[in-house]
Amino acid sequence: MIKALLFDMDGVLADSEGISLEIGLAYFHSIGVNAVKESFASSLGCGERTFFDKTAAVLGVSEPPYSYDDASAFFRKEYIERIRDNQIALPGSCIVRKAREKGILTALCSSAPEWKVRANIEAIRLEDKDFDFIASGKDIKRNKPEKDIYALALIALGVDASDAVVFEDSEGGIISGKRAGCRTVSMLTTITREQAEKAGADAVIENLSSIPDFSDGEDLEAALFPPDGKVRYGAVLIRPGKNDVPDSVLIEEARKAREHGYAPYSGFRVGAALLSAASGKVYSGCNVENSSYGATICAERNAITTAIASEGVIGIEKIAVYSDDDPPAPPCAVCLQVLAEFSNPDTEVLLVTPHSDPIRYRFSELLPIPFIFPTMR
Ligand code: THU
Repeated sequence: MIKALLFDMDGVLADSEGISLEIGLAYFHSIGVNAVKESFASSLGCGERTFFDKTAAVLGVSEPPYSYDDASAFFRKEYIERIRDNQIALPGSCIVRKAREKGILTALCSSAPEWKVRANIEAIRLEDKDFDFIASGKDIKRNKPEKDIYALALIALGVDASDAVVFEDSEGGIISGKRAGCRTVSMLTTITREQAEKAGADAVIENLSSIPDFSDGEDLEAALFPPDGKVRYGAVLIRPGKNDVPDSVLIEEARKAREHGYAPYSGFRVGAALLSAASGKVYSGCNVENSSYGATICAERNAITTAIASEGVIGIEKIAVYSDDDPPAPPCAVCLQVLAEFSNPDTEVLLVTPHSDPIRYRFSELLPIPFIFPTMR
């Protein structure tokens, strides 16, 4: 059961990797070295010394005018200035407080210098007391990808590695968490899903806001690591299969379904087509109006009921909604609630019209806080 959450800071709780990169680039430019973003690729997430020294080595400038001390001073001055006016809290960083309310311990394990860790905590509107333990670069000799910072946190919290979960966003950080024996969840803020899986991540999520509501450590365990490779889609757990149906197929099915829309009252026909996560099959529906207007059923809900009648409970990977509106019409609030039962925050919603390019949303952008019955979360 999960007893502790161990968080990396940059790219997990704070949206600061981009700022750090910009300052790193500005430093090398200030000494006349033409660095590019890719120069930092192998030096992210492993502390400030690695960030500069390794990049300097990659660029072939380990000698003066490069100096780690100058780079470090340059970085500190610029960083404090830039985060002052920036909203750098990443979505879902409030999970730190929520976890503690639910009886789960929290630790911050950042390889960054202590001044940066403190500045970030303040900038993301948390406080030191929201963490049971805070470790920064100064507390360990060997940085990530070594296990030391996470091993230290486990000792400080008195928690076994098997009961702790690490949240990371870089390859070095994932390797560090795994070497400490913890299950490690990767965000997609800094690396791709393929890179995260290659580094050994046990689960991959877009960001911390993708984690559904939880009531305790056991509940969170089931949400992050569902048994048998199952993934949570709203109120249901589904094992996703092969889902390589292109958008164009979904859009065409929604367009065809719209042609059957029964809309003699509004004249506004709508078609919807969804992709079932388990089977990879596409199901469509259209709106069906009624003389008693309130008995009308929308296209999205008809697509859902058709899918469930055909294969049982579904998880929705993607849904296209086709209407003749500009901008394209989103699902109504009732449909969003019905979609929420079978969707996860990353479910894609494509809004389509004949007039313009489809607009793509994540489900969580359209309905950030869905209601799911407590026993089904
Ligand atoms: N409609 C849908 O089919 N889906 C939605 O999410 C929004 C509204 C239909 C219902 C009704 O037949 C017509 O659009 C006008 O409200």
